[in-house]
Amino acid sequence: MNLGTLPAFITGFYLLTQLASIIAYIKFTNLKCENYDKSFLNFRKCDLKALSRNKVALTVDVQIFQLPIRNFSVNLDVYRKANGYRPFLFNITTNFCEFFKNRKRLPFGKLIMDAVELYSNLNHSCPFNVRCHVLKLVCFSFYNNSYNFKHDLIVKDLVLQNEQLQSLPAPTGEYLLRITAAFYNVWKFKVHAYIQIVEE
Ligand SMILES: *[C@@H]1O[C@H](CO)[C@@H](O)[C@H](O)[C@H]1NC(C)=O
Ligand SMILES: *[C@@H]1O[C@H](CO)[C@@H](O)[C@H](O)[C@H]1NC(C)=O
Ligand SMILES: *[C@@H]1O[C@H](CO)[C@@H](O)[C@H](O)[C@H]1NC(C)=O
Ligand SMILES: *[C@@H]1O[C@H](CO)[C@@H](O)[C@H](O)[C@H]1NC(C)=O
Repeated sequence: MNLGTLPAFITGFYLLTQLASIIAYIKFTNLKCENYDKSFLNFRKCDLKALSRNKVALTVDVQIFQLPIRNFSVNLDVYRKANGYRPFLFNITTNFCEFFKNRKRLPFGKLIMDAVELYSNLNHSCPFNVRCHVLKLVCFSFYNNSYNFKHDLIVKDLVLQNEQLQSLPAPTGEYLLRITAAFYNVWKFKVHAYIQIVEE
């Protein structure tokens, strides 16, 4: 884990204990997906849908053309708005293929993944070469390489829940969560999720 500095980590835990019960709501406000290599992948979907005033569902569907994926890393970093967006506490890079073997090693990564995985088909280790039911988000391991099934990386109708947020060290404000993915050490896409947190 690279949280930058230990003080930042301790501040995080301090805020966490202070803010545990006063979050009113958390929601997505904007979403952008950047594709750095159109021959490698395609964003089939990258959108937000308002379900009610304080509930917004996120859907991202990344179609990958070159399978299987055996080497996949992800960088997560967070910015908070204060005269422009400034780096905020978290900046971690992880080998996604290893991550699922022991997600507790990366507390912030675990927090994000715990929120995301119920809405995604990402919960399995590499290689990503499986047959997935796009609507039901069910994946079947498929190591039979004579058939090259397309495997989209999908997060579907993800709604942020206040309960998940109770353990987030984040006060009221506008945040930007950036998820950058690399395959074989080359950055291929970036997702910018803008999030608003409001305390009571
Ligand atoms: C996080 O780290 C990456 C790579 O070291 C860097 O490019 C990025 O700007 C950092 N983000 C923040 C918010 O500090
Ligand atoms: C994710 O995968 C692990 C291991 O296969 C399983 O124990 C866990 O229940 C899965 N989580 C979800 C939300 O499907
Ligand atoms: C791969 O799967 C196909 C379809 O299920 C099957 O016909 C074929 O025999 C399998 N090949 C191997 C090497 O298992
Ligand atoms: C991922 O791929 C890069 C580039 O081919 C390589 O340098 C790196 O060692 C690979 N990582 C793993 C965990 O296989």
